Amino acid sequence: MLIQNTYNYLVDTLRQRRQKLASLIDFPAILWSGNTNPRNFPANVFPFRASSHFLYFAGLPLPNAAIRLEAGKLELFMDDPKPSSALWHGEMPRSEEIAHKIGADAVKPMVELSVEGAATIAVQDAATWTQQSQLLDRLVLPQIQPTGIDLELAKAIVTVRLTHDEAALTELRKAAVVTVEAHKAGMAATTSAKIEAEVRSLMEAVIIAHNMTTSYNSIVTVHGEVLHSDRYHHSLQPGDLLLADVGAETEMGWAADVTRTWAVSGKFSSTQRDIYDVVLAAHDACIAKIRPGVEYEDIHLLACSVIASGLVDLGILKGNPEDLVEMDAHALFFPHGIGHLLGLDVHDMEDLGDLAGYEEKRERSDRFGLGYLRLNRPLRPGMLVTIEPGFYQVPAILNDANLRSKYHHVVNWERLSQFADVRGIRIEDDVLVTTEGSEVLTAALPNQASAVEDLVVC
Ligand code: GLY
Ligand code: MN
Repeated sequence: MLIQNTYNYLVDTLRQRRQKLASLIDFPAILWSGNTNPRNFPANVFPFRASSHFLYFAGLPLPNAAIRLEAGKLELFMDDPKPSSALWHGEMPRSEEIAHKIGADAVKPMVELSVEGAATIAVQDAATWTQQSQLLDRLVLPQIQPTGIDLELAKAIVTVRLTHDEAALTELRKAAVVTVEAHKAGMAATTSAKIEAEVRSLMEAVIIAHNMTTSYNSIVTVHGEVLHSDRYHHSLQPGDLLLADVGAETEMGWAADVTRTWAVSGKFSSTQRDIYDVVLAAHDACIAKIRPGVEYEDIHLLACSVIASGLVDLGILKGNPEDLVEMDAHALFFPHGIGHLLGLDVHDMEDLGDLAGYEEKRERSDRFGLGYLRLNRPLRPGMLVTIEPGFYQVPAILNDANLRSKYHHVVNWERLSQFADVRGIRIEDDVLVTTEGSEVLTAALPNQASAVEDLVVC
């Protein structure tokens, strides 16, 4: 009975998604899932990840398949596995079974894919975008902004995927629950770990044990100032902070994205605690402001001003916080945006450049304090966003001669030197915009400094 319900749920969800798309475009769309990528020789491949646009409308991560969507109908194109593949990969469901499971209106072999008049979106792997370009007889490249009907399709898909339906939210909540457990495991493991990799392995073990994967390369580092650090060999010293930005991705591809920062010893030093509380104040203030209609850029600017104000109180910055934000002085320590869309991709739909993140006719600012803002739209119910303020001492910023001279009069460098044990702190949660305000999907993971300390020394 349960299987029957689940099955209908998937079919119904996918039907509703393609009907929404059909109400926005009057031409066919073909979405390819993409292929596995070999690592050095063909029989050894990286884990397969279907294109998110395909996954959204097809529901299942099928390699080397395509769907044709037209007027609310779905045709599935895929080849049945060769008999020899059962030897290496086991028996796989046949295409008819898969078509039935996802409620396809027809299923055909790949050679019958007819592309005439169809729009598409470039898939990341070269073998597939080459195939897309050849079949469609136009250049379809992930690095270039789509044009013509491809652009119209991209905009329509953004409209549909920008807010999440119930089926998506069920998956996103699952990813959030497992991510919370992974962070708790990381905190509990730290005092007995010797290097970053040990903590990373125990966090990812929780994710893998739930038959999930990570939704991006985990960041688990004592060098929190390296925003996307991908090294795990550093030793853990008692005075260090450990920053862990780790998120799970469900089997169906839905992501979580969470960051916590804790003290390796379990107890923050007084300087670490001071900065931690500034970052947390920005985090809390931003989440309190989230509701439909609010501009995400204003949430970002709110974080900037809470951070600037906190740094003034600590004697690190000098001046009026609003003036400091206007002159981008906060970006010396908080150089990135307050967050991004979250869904099937950790930066949802970022394969489309800023088409999803930025409201039509808006462009990225070239301001030092705004240029890395990935989302600039009014919030709507059903959007899932991250809120991730931070404080970092990035040598490339703080030692930059131009920046030092521009901001010399607003930074108390001597006072800053007393905070040398704070290389990087970020606190990140996943926040759903609701009709009333917001719901933090990752709220089960404590973020108050003392509660984090308790989890580390438990
Ligand atoms: N979790 C990494 C990022 O948001 O960029
Ligand atoms: Mn993030």
